[in-house]
Amino acid sequence: MKRIARPLAAIVAIGLAAACSGPEKKAADGLDAVKAAGKIVLGTSADFPPYEFHMEEGGQDTIVGFDIEVAKEIANDLGVTLEIKDMNFDGLLAALDSGSIDIVVAGMNPTEERKKAVDFTDVYYMAEQTVIVRAADAATYVSVESLKDAMIGAQKGATQVGIAKKKIKGLADEAQPSDQVKELPKLGDLVLALKNGNIDAVVVESAVAAAYVRANPDLALAPFTFPDEDGGSAIAVKKGNPALLSALNATLGRLSASGAVEEYVAGANALMDRL
Ligand code: ARG
Repeated sequence: MKRIARPLAAIVAIGLAAACSGPEKKAADGLDAVKAAGKIVLGTSADFPPYEFHMEEGGQDTIVGFDIEVAKEIANDLGVTLEIKDMNFDGLLAALDSGSIDIVVAGMNPTEERKKAVDFTDVYYMAEQTVIVRAADAATYVSVESLKDAMIGAQKGATQVGIAKKKIKGLADEAQPSDQVKELPKLGDLVLALKNGNIDAVVVESAVAAAYVRANPDLALAPFTFPDEDGGSAIAVKKGNPALLSALNATLGRLSASGAVEEYVAGANALMDRL
């Protein structure tokens, strides 16, 4: 069976190669693929209120947040529907690479390291980083130095791991292991670990920290922040899709100029009060 199948496969392969090697050699841009499919597939990690989070709407579990509002505008501008895939934050770039999603909108910072693997749009939102602690410990953890011997949590694959290791633990880089830094894939699990006393603090974006503290009266915000050195949030696309990238930038430009992003942030914060 194999012997017969092989030459056939070879002929099909030659046929495909011939079909692809016309005068137009370049691969189709992701924009064409999205338009042909009639949908854009968004990858996110919906554990990040007010950016993206789960909420029950009309008895149905829905993913909402200001990133989702931005993505809806993108889909609208492209004339396609929006499909959302919720996954672990540290799996998003691989999903982009494998083609199972078209874009990542997940409060993701366009870091130099990530830029080696994917392309980013312009930045659509700026943030600061802070730390959540148990309310009972708020008087203890008043400075970065006070966390020196504390057990710090950070989301796996996120820039906060670097903050925990370099800025709090004083390590040279984030690849270095530390038994005082706990990395978990989902932020909600880190918050639980904090509430249970398994860790002492979670490094997270200020707006997200405020959201978790509002929902959990036994938690508190530390009174200090770390500047966002990686330059805010941007949308990631697979490398080599310039038309898709500029379509995304066109929508982001429109939303930034009209102040819509700020409105979406306010809207998402208001939604959270219903959680
Ligand atoms: N801004 C951080 C980063 O880019 C964390 C983002 C986490 N996002 C999420 N949806 N959980 O690494």
